[in-house]
Amino acid sequence: MPSWAAALAVSLSVRVGPTGHVVGLGQQESSLAAAQAWVVDLNGGLENVSFRQAGILDNDLPAESFDFVHLRFVRATVGQYDAMVAAAARLLKPGGVMAL
Ligand SMILES: C[S@@+](CC[C@H](N)C(=O)[O-])C[C@H]1O[C@@H](n2cnc3c(N)ncnc32)[C@H](O)[C@@H]1O
Repeated sequence: MPSWAAALAVSLSVRVGPTGHVVGLGQQESSLAAAQAWVVDLNGGLENVSFRQAGILDNDLPAESFDFVHLRFVRATVGQYDAMVAAAARLLKPGGVMAL
């Protein structure tokens, strides 16, 4: 999860507000640490953003627990389009929105 992805998480944190929560997934521990540090440095810490070391295809996030799943610029990297969409759909609450 590079810093521009952390920037996206920060942007979404503003949208969801204090009653919402943004979860950023990343696979490399160093990238996650950098994203967390970036969020803290620029904003003094955000209570509604967290990062997890997991992929969209292999995470233990509960089914139907998100209103919005954003997979920006991830398709080419994951390389398994149908599996990626199915995994994202699993996370969405009924009526939730997926952005690819
Ligand atoms: C071009 S970057 C886009 C990063 C971010 N989504 C953004 O829009 O700034 C592609 C990202 O996909 C991530 N990625 C690769 N395989 C993944 C998977 N199975 N689940 C989630 N992310 C994955 C990589 O770690 C990389 O950070």
